[in-house]
Amino acid sequence: MSVAAKTSMSGQEMVALSKQHSLYEWSAQAHVDPIPVARAKGIYFWTPEGKRFIDFNSQLMCVNIGHGDPRVIKAIQDQAATLAYANPFMATEVRARLGQKLAQIAPGDIDVFFFTNGGAEATENAIRIARLATGRHKILARYRSYHGGTGAALTATGDPRRWALEPGFPGIIHVPHPHHGLQRGTDSGAEALAQLEEIIMLEGPHTIAAFIIEPVTGTNGIHVPPDGYLEGLRALCDKHGILMIADEVMSGFGRTGEWFAVDHWNVVPDILTMAKGLTSAYVALGAVGVRRKIADVFKDKVYYGGLTYNSHPLGCAAALATIAVYEEDKLIDRARKMGVVMKQMHDDLKKKHPSVGETRSIGLFGIVELVKDRKTMEPLAPFNGTSPEMQALGKFFREEGLYTFVRWNGFFTNPPLTITEPELAEAFAIIDKGLSITDKAVV
Ligand SMILES: Cc1ncc(COP(=O)(O)O)c(C=O)c1O
Repeated sequence: MSVAAKTSMSGQEMVALSKQHSLYEWSAQAHVDPIPVARAKGIYFWTPEGKRFIDFNSQLMCVNIGHGDPRVIKAIQDQAATLAYANPFMATEVRARLGQKLAQIAPGDIDVFFFTNGGAEATENAIRIARLATGRHKILARYRSYHGGTGAALTATGDPRRWALEPGFPGIIHVPHPHHGLQRGTDSGAEALAQLEEIIMLEGPHTIAAFIIEPVTGTNGIHVPPDGYLEGLRALCDKHGILMIADEVMSGFGRTGEWFAVDHWNVVPDILTMAKGLTSAYVALGAVGVRRKIADVFKDKVYYGGLTYNSHPLGCAAALATIAVYEEDKLIDRARKMGVVMKQMHDDLKKKHPSVGETRSIGLFGIVELVKDRKTMEPLAPFNGTSPEMQALGKFFREEGLYTFVRWNGFFTNPPLTITEPELAEAFAIIDKGLSITDKAVV
């Protein structure tokens, strides 16, 4: 199943030259220590020297169908040979087919799409559409969120990545997330909604264009909304004429065991953003989907937005082929079923390891949060920080060939949706061993 590596550089050369001539994101350059990657297949990737890693984060929670699927590769190759590019004012077969396909799988009457290069541009355009469609300017966003690394998207982001870029875009207001950290826990749906309604009243409902949320929070901790929250949010938005934007860049395309996370609650947002799993990252592509009534606003009114690579044929071809893979291999169903297996594995870790404070997952979207003490639930690393124990755990995973995101006091369990039970067990065996390091820190 492995493919011969075709790199002419050693791993060390790749790292040295990459660091010399390119900037690594969200990092002080002296501290980055990238893994050199030569090839990838299924749930694995390899360094040029042949060290194998289990990709337990689907790279950036995006390679949902696993690496190297020949069906998607062929579709990209065929499209490149036929028509690699046409500008966004043209019509192409792949653009036509992709819009039609997305209209079938998107929730409710979302059936018009604006294509972008990725998630951040999807957020930018979602916010712009909401402002133009409502004539209102404010956007509500939550703390403990990530919406992308560009202007309005980063301003909407409710985590420390925003801080250095402040002040950002005017008119974006943050509201609390129902989750308040391990020690304070999570509000009930009713409590969170009451607080939100108070903020809407104080801000003036007629000034608010939209409320943007990750229906299941991604990098800020895999938080599944409390009962009634999403449905209540939908009703609140309707009551005040506020558009609901669901950012499904990370939670979409089967990650949670449904096409989109909102499908778990049968909630139809007015605007839905997607990227990552849309093409499984084989080619960069994002999209904003809107309900008919919003699309109709732009029948006579100009949509002021554009990108040279909007509806890029290679991205559209990759997305169509990727969606066909989800369907042919029943990967959405599979994510739901394997999610049950993964939850059990989370529970087993919790039973065995005193440093496991809490585990959360939905489908194959999961996190394990570590604590110093289960009674006080003091995290093993502070908010936005790290600790020697978390660093040692990250080092152990890397040495043992398990790649995942270790962030603050937690680590993610987000494998490709193709993962099998034995492969899951292989990853959890490494995690099990690694947690003996963090158990030692328990008081
Ligand atoms: C929920 C969410 N929205 C938006 C983005 C931004 O997407 P991109 O990095 O493709 O711009 C991300 C990326 O992680 C994300 O998780």
